Amino acid sequence: MEERETTIKIPEHFRLLYTAEDISKRVEEMAGEISQDYEGKTVHLVGVLKGAAVFLSDLLRTLTVPATYDFLSVASYGDSTESTGVVRLIKDLDDPVESRDIIIVEDIIDTGLTLKYIEELMRNRKVSSLSKCTFLDRPDRRKVHVEMDYVGFTIPDCYVVGYGLDFEQKWRQLPGIYAINQPTSKE
Ligand code: IMP
Repeated sequence: MEERETTIKIPEHFRLLYTAEDISKRVEEMAGEISQDYEGKTVHLVGVLKGAAVFLSDLLRTLTVPATYDFLSVASYGDSTESTGVVRLIKDLDDPVESRDIIIVEDIIDTGLTLKYIEELMRNRKVSSLSKCTFLDRPDRRKVHVEMDYVGFTIPDCYVVGYGLDFEQKWRQLPGIYAINQPTSKE
């Protein structure tokens, strides 16, 4: 019988930063920390599409406190690697968040503009509590100050793909996280 590829072919210029094992270990640690902080409560995870979907689903299944989740979608990047600096809501949450314990779940914090926008949106909806969680943090190009409660890994200034993160909508399916030879900024 003909042998089939079991994984997607990864271009040679992609540099592996975190393996699937590194990721699941870190997600487990983060879920442990969150579960401890929210003991006795039900957390409502607010994921930012599309990038955070993969991380959120792993985190959700590792939490030991009751959890619900919802997604919203904002636009800030288009199909380029450079932020336009403008964030707008494309898809709102399905359910109300008033009086709930919310955790915003992001894939990566870059300029901070997306998170700032979502944080303000949530605070205006009179949530009971709000914390912010991201799998990756890249502080080098920050435009606005954001305080994070939970961070998976802090990375240097390189564009990354995999584990939900894309370049022009591709590579989200990679189980590891890779740096690609793509400048994060044209400046
Ligand atoms: P920010 O508003 O500049 O913080 O951008 C946040 C969003 O930009 C993230 O949620 C990602 O969807 C996207 N983004 C930023 N950097 C990268 C990257 O290196 N790879 C893939 N997506 C990225």
